[in-house]
Amino acid sequence: MRGSEGDGGSIALLQKWKHDLNKFENQTIPDKELVFGRTLSGSVELDGSVIAPDSHVKRVVINNPEGEELEVFRRSVATGGVVDHGLMFLAFSADQERLNRILHRMLGLEDGVSERLLGFTKAVQSAYYFAPPIESFS
Ligand code: HEM
Repeated sequence: MRGSEGDGGSIALLQKWKHDLNKFENQTIPDKELVFGRTLSGSVELDGSVIAPDSHVKRVVINNPEGEELEVFRRSVATGGVVDHGLMFLAFSADQERLNRILHRMLGLEDGVSERLLGFTKAVQSAYYFAPPIESFS
């Protein structure tokens, strides 16, 4: 809230994901594209007639009642080595409810549709942190 303690800070969501890449790779290219809702080549969003309601972009893009997209700031990095594969996912928002809502949609808690991606990866660690505003360090 403006003017209150922590104003200008963000909630950070940090999640460690563990992938089953063999299972993912054993799909056809169209099926792989349906997982994310984007083309493998060029990352172009799939046409509305093709994209599935359980694709990643359909789960994670949320809007307010006026139809405006509620964005979050994301920075992720691949983790693992030759045998284990995963993703360290980091997202920031001043509004924790956005992050909660996206996670709920991924799990199917909002409308009963859970992410197709969850068939190929799982969150093995997950935590919220508070990232203070830069002014608090001066
Ligand atoms: C293993 C876990 C995940 C994988 C592999 C993954 C992968 C991807 C990929 C490939 C994209 C499209 C390219 C891009 O915009 O970067 C994307 C977009 C996105 N992801 Fe994820 N993601 C994961 C988890 C999450 C989580 C946990 C959240 C939120 C809590 C999230 C939120 C988003 C959002 C908001 C977008 C942008 C969608 C758009 O505007 O089209 N993702 N993700």
